[in-house]
Amino acid sequence: MDAVVVYESLWGNTAAIARAIASGLGEGTLVLTTDQATPRRLANADLLVAGAPVHAMGLPSDSTRASATAKVYGTHPGLRADVSHPPLRDWLDTLPPAERLCAAFDTGIRGPLGHGAARAIIARLTAHGYEAIDEPQTYTVALVTGSSEPAALLLSGQEEAAARWGAHLAMVVRERATTQA
Ligand SMILES: Cc1cc2nc3c(=O)[nH]c(=O)nc-3n(C[C@H](O)[C@H](O)[C@H](O)COP(=O)(O)O)c2cc1C
Repeated sequence: MDAVVVYESLWGNTAAIARAIASGLGEGTLVLTTDQATPRRLANADLLVAGAPVHAMGLPSDSTRASATAKVYGTHPGLRADVSHPPLRDWLDTLPPAERLCAAFDTGIRGPLGHGAARAIIARLTAHGYEAIDEPQTYTVALVTGSSEPAALLLSGQEEAAARWGAHLAMVVRERATTQA
């Protein structure tokens, strides 16, 4: 099975979850930023998994990314939000239509009741012909302000949960391939 995990991440938490999901999906899974995830690199993928941080209850926008850069959320003095990669929102808008399986995740402070960004991702992917194979997932960060640590830190156990979800997605894709063969 060929899978690609595409992510947006300003402080690295969503990137860490993307890598954990890829480890569960199995060897050879590509983990790509939005500028690396060209249509050519998606061409052979059976499954696309996309993820982003929750900003203002949804997908990051130019204005929430600007807020992040302005340290509204109290980042580490030496750690700037990385806005060098295009927003996932823009990447999704230009994604060529495809009949491909998909799944989505986000990271946020609200935990299991969140999903605002992941739901928005699924809505955009299905509008492009993609088929969701599982519910959107949220992985939880704690906001830390006024400390010498980065503002958003993954709670313990989140990467392990993400790896388990990746393994579950791989199983769903394999089962579908078997029943369709
Ligand atoms: C401008 C801004 C708005 C945010 N809004 C929300 C929100 O509505 N709900 C939430 O759970 N977390 C919110 N957060 C916290 C982010 O989800 C958190 O910073 C993110 O998970 C960190 O992921 P990253 O390290 O990959 O950038 C917000 C963060 C920023 C910077």
